[in-house]
Formats: sequence, structure tokens, C-alpha cells
Amino acid sequence: MKYGRLGSTGLQVSNLSLGTMAFGRWIDEQASVEILDTALDAGINLIDTANFYGKGQNEAFIHGTGESEEIIGRYLKGRREKVVLATKVGLPMGKDVNDRGLSRFHIMREIEHSLRRLQTDYIDLYQVHRFDERTPIEETLSALTDLVKQGKVRYIGCSNFAAWQMAKADGISKLQGLERFVSSQSQYNLLSRELEQEVIPFCLSEEVGLLVYSPMARGVLSGKYKSKEDMPEGSRAAKGEALIQKYFTDENFERVAQYRKMAQEYDVNMSQFSLSWILNQPAVTTALVGASKPHHVTDAIQIADWKWIDELREQVNRI
Ligand SMILES: NC(=O)c1ccc[n+]([C@@H]2O[C@H](COP(=O)([O-])OP(=O)(O)OC[C@H]3O[C@@H](n4cnc5c(N)ncnc54)[C@H](OP(=O)(O)O)[C@@H]3O)[C@@H](O)[C@H]2O)c1
Repeated sequence: MKYGRLGSTGLQVSNLSLGTMAFGRWIDEQASVEILDTALDAGINLIDTANFYGKGQNEAFIHGTGESEEIIGRYLKGRREKVVLATKVGLPMGKDVNDRGLSRFHIMREIEHSLRRLQTDYIDLYQVHRFDERTPIEETLSALTDLVKQGKVRYIGCSNFAAWQMAKADGISKLQGLERFVSSQSQYNLLSRELEQEVIPFCLSEEVGLLVYSPMARGVLSGKYKSKEDMPEGSRAAKGEALIQKYFTDENFERVAQYRKMAQEYDVNMSQFSLSWILNQPAVTTALVGASKPHHVTDAIQIADWKWIDELREQVNRI
């Protein structure tokens, strides 16, 4: 396992991290614990969750229900200090108008719920889940700075921000002496490269760490789907994940077929090929592996045995 600095901080994080969006939603506690064991045994030191993750992500609900944090909290008893624990705030956690967003009101309440569910008294990386246009960013940064001063949070990060939103926040932090977002958590993979236009240049310029989510396009880049109609039993698409549908286009299936040929030429599987590309892109600090089975973690770890071949970069860009 390789480790590197998180942005401009002194914190070392593994270049593969464990994403836990499936915990308590698609997989039960026992299956989640097996994945946590596999990840920690392999040297993964960053676990990413969110107050929102759990059954509440399913469309039948209208707000988060916190099961992922609860499972992790029970698991980390006695080993809390071994991991860099990241969670998020901002998505709906109830029906009321103030049960969401990045107001001081909501953040101060939600940190207490996250700490309780995670059975800890500090969060290593507290991330705002997405930009909140209803709340002045000064208010959010000031509330987060107070949490750092209170010892409840070590570092703060953002997620799903556009580059202008990151730049605005960074400027305000510096001008007002507030904590700055040390990382961005954003979607990036071989089928979704918008980040390269603005966010990645900003991260490189300002030394902001990049936590990549959906590095395998929610499973599409693992090669398990051959067409829109093909949904293997037990897969996320078969379980009804709505967001995966955005990847189900004819163009993407054509691209995946071409990547598969390239991967076969070098005797690696699609998951390894996709992850290796991500890990060799500039600015990427860590890829969040969204495992629903232990072998998703061990497959990801095996990429360390395969060095990305630079001549492939041009071919990938053409596709
Ligand atoms: N900040 C945000 O807004 C945001 C949004 C999304 C995700 N995230 C974070 O990022 C993490 C990862 O996101 P993601 O789950 O979308 O990541 P992903 O790595 O793109 O997709 C994970 C899915 O790919 C499939 N997969 C992974 N490895 C495989 C392998 N070796 N062989 C076959 N299939 C494999 C599995 O699908 P099946 O389960 O169908 O087998 C797995 O559930 C989440 O857990 C969460 O922590 C954050």
C-alpha cells in the first residue's frame, strides 16, 4: 500500500480508501465487517462514510438514516486510532427545512449525531457533502472552524464543489483566518472526466487533496454490465440504484468494450485497469473503493502489482 500527504497537510493517507456507501443499505453488518477487516489488514487507513449513508439513500425514503456510521462505530471500538475517519454533512437528515444544508444550526447538530453513531469524540476529516447555495460560505466555514477549535474535527474538506466554489471558500478562509478545505471529494473515472477542466487544475495549484469517488463508475468500469439490458443478479443496477443509470449509454458501453480489449492485452481485469488509470492521474490522493464484497478490496489492492503503462494514456484519451 502506498501512502501520501492529504493535500498540503502532514496527514498520510493510503492511495486506496474504503468507501462505505453500501453499508447498511445494500449489505448487512456482517458483510460490512468482513470488508472492513480486509481493508484494514491490507493497510488501507482511510474510511469514508456520511451521515446520509444507509437505508435512507434508497428512493423510498426521503432522508438519511445513519446505518453506515453506526456499523463503523461498532467496528472501530478499540481500534479508532488506527484509522483516518472521514464523514460528511449536508444532505437531508429529516423532513424539516433545517434538517439539511450547511448552516451553523444544522452542522452543530449533525456533528453530535455523527460522533454518537461513530462512537468517537473526533472526526479526522469532516466534509461538506455538496455546496449549499442557501447558506453563506462564511457561516459554514466559521462553524467548521469552531468544531476544529473544540477538538471535534481535525481537518475539513468539501465534496462535489465546482472549482469556483472551492476558490471562493479558499479565499474567504485565508482572508478571515478560518480553517480551509484541505480536500475535495469528487467523481472521477474513465467515463467521467469533467474534473480535468477546472477542479484538478485548482487542486494542483492550491495543494488540495483529491479523494476520487466512483472510480469504477459505480461498477460499470468493472465490466460487469455488457449492455443496458444486462443487469447481473445482485449488482447495484439490479438493486435499483438510480445514479448508475446515468452511465448506461451506448457510447459508454462502446468505450468500456475498448478499454476491456486494452486491459486484456496486458492481462489485467477491467477493475484493475480502471483503478490504475485513476491512481496515475495528477492530483489524485486516493481512490475510494466502493466495495460490496471483500474481493472488491483485494482486487483493488492487486493493482499495486501492475504498473500503469504510459503509452496507454494516449489511447485512453482518444477513446
Ligand atoms: N461525495 C459523494 O457525493 C459520493 C458519491 C458517491 C460515492 N461516494 C463515496 O465513494 C465511495 C465509492 O463510490 P462507488 O461505490 O460509486 O465506487 P465504485 O468503485 O465506482 O463502484 C463500486 C461498485 O463497483 C463494483 N466493483 C468494485 N470492485 C469490483 C470488482 N473488483 N469486481 C467487480 N465489481 C466491482 C461493485 O458493484 P456491485 O456492488 O454491483 O457488485 C461496487 O459496489 C462510496 O462508498 C462513498 O464512500 C461519495
